[in-house]
Amino acid sequence: MCGIIGYSGVENSVPKLIEGLKALEYRGYDSAGIAVFTENGISVVKSKGRIANIEKILDTEYPNLESVCGIGHTRWATHGEPSDRNSHPHGTDRIRLVHNGIIENYIQLKKELSACGYSFESDTDTEIASKLIDLNYKTSGDPIKAIKSTVKKLEGSYALGIIFDKYPGKIFAARKDSPLIVALSENGNFIASDIPAVLKHTNRYYQLEQGEIAIVEKDKVTVYDEFGSVANKEVLTADWDVGSAEKGGYEHFMLKEINEEPLAIVNTIRPRIKDGLPCLDLPHLSDEAIKAFKRVSIVACGTAMHAGFIGRTAIETLARIPVKVEIASEFRYRNPILDKEDLVIIISQSGETADSLAALRLSKERGAHTLAIVNVAGSSIAREADSTLYTWAGPEIAVASTKAYTVQISLMYLIATKFALCNGRITKDKAKEYLHTLLTLSPVAVENALVLSAECAKISEKIKNAEHLFYIGRGIDYDIAQEASLKLKEISYIHSEAYAAGEMKHGTISLITDGVPVIAVCTQDHLVEKMISNIKEVKARGAFVLIICKENMQIDKEVADEVLKIPVLSDLFMPIPAMTVLQLVAYHTSVIRGCDVDKPRNLAKSVTVE
Ligand code: G6P
Repeated sequence: MCGIIGYSGVENSVPKLIEGLKALEYRGYDSAGIAVFTENGISVVKSKGRIANIEKILDTEYPNLESVCGIGHTRWATHGEPSDRNSHPHGTDRIRLVHNGIIENYIQLKKELSACGYSFESDTDTEIASKLIDLNYKTSGDPIKAIKSTVKKLEGSYALGIIFDKYPGKIFAARKDSPLIVALSENGNFIASDIPAVLKHTNRYYQLEQGEIAIVEKDKVTVYDEFGSVANKEVLTADWDVGSAEKGGYEHFMLKEINEEPLAIVNTIRPRIKDGLPCLDLPHLSDEAIKAFKRVSIVACGTAMHAGFIGRTAIETLARIPVKVEIASEFRYRNPILDKEDLVIIISQSGETADSLAALRLSKERGAHTLAIVNVAGSSIAREADSTLYTWAGPEIAVASTKAYTVQISLMYLIATKFALCNGRITKDKAKEYLHTLLTLSPVAVENALVLSAECAKISEKIKNAEHLFYIGRGIDYDIAQEASLKLKEISYIHSEAYAAGEMKHGTISLITDGVPVIAVCTQDHLVEKMISNIKEVKARGAFVLIICKENMQIDKEVADEVLKIPVLSDLFMPIPAMTVLQLVAYHTSVIRGCDVDKPRNLAKSVTVE
């Protein structure tokens, strides 16, 4: 979702802005633009489509454009179609602004601005904010006063980067509920939506807090708190290196990230095992506190929510605590029943998903303890939760989440083991056995699953022309099926549905006709016979059946058209290697169909609006 970059320094900002925008492409976008200071005022270049369009315009129309200060933006359309005129930066000759978020009261503000003589070129809420700043700047002549009086009137969420004609070399920034960092380097300073945008230049940054306003100059950064006093900011250091945010020889980020799964599991789990036992090291989650929880809710969106399904099965199986999994955008408006006996686990790769953040705040308000599982250090969800466990997967750039999911579920197993120990449901020896599977056996199983890439590509060949496809499974295999189905549809655009295998015959089996592919996930010994019955039901109606099962399972040849056998772990842990294989199937299908694997249409990596 929209990406912001800004640079003020001693070098030409134009290539830096373009490079920063490219590093933010993974967030999802459909247009882009920059605004830079020149001798003749502020120059703006913006266009619908890819950043390459901006580069083309720069080459042909502005071959000598140089500037030491400017702002840039990738837009993911919310208000108004993707078009040149709706692209950011917006504003007037006096001010230019880039924005991530949604201004909810923009219609009312538009009326007020129209009454003051303003007209509008775009359909965006952002243009309204820019014109309001312009009005307040015209009145006060002071950028900080103009920003303050503007943000007071804005309802909704925003991260703003603003430049003012009379203040060359200065970028003004403000945020509420949308992420923004200020990054510090020898040759100048930056604003950015996320760390990968600046990693080539620096890993030192400030996290801008709610209500703060920053002035970024080439050799100085000043941050004011919401009361107007200079804020004493802590410099944070990102431990991601540049290489981790680049493709490193892989054709796509998604493939690179799938291949990083074994290491990501080890990095995330190893530091949390002491003497073979789980050690969460969370001061607010003592063994006593864990014992006192009566219920667990796991709340998240998309892939992170699917990781929650595995978490539910793991926690209920091992610790015997009831667990609900909820879609964050539903949970927040469902008036959930929570109190201090509830634990709410919020899972989020980015730590900035608007609905997940709102769910977290609501849960805190209602007295539940909140535990965040987050990949991006210092993100809003990580900072606001009562307890936070980071997944140490490194930056995930491809929009379709892969390694982040793998480490999210790895942490769910660790949490389930810890809770089961605290509740006296398992012995220490049993806990050690589970953690040995998690830390030692599962990375090896994933390595072995990665070797099956060519086999996965063969499956992709078989399903590449499908219009509709079904994934079926029972128990934890149904949990896997749901994520596998999402992965396929988001990057290959094949319509796919995940179904509980036993439920197909209650309606959906009417959609099975000759040749419709059904991928049956079959990794659980105690459910395999039931699965085979369900597979026969669809096969008898013409389905083209592909079975994904454990290496050591014997499947009768007549039951399936294709069988892909995958590395074996104890049943509860089978989602780890199974998902690697199913991610690879989705990946190859996307490649074969010629889709934009890393940047699928209409999707955004970090969804900072409701
Ligand atoms: C978007 C992304 C998904 C992701 C979901 C939740 O829809 O495209 O890949 O799973 O948001 O994001 P989060 O950052 O909260 O995990």
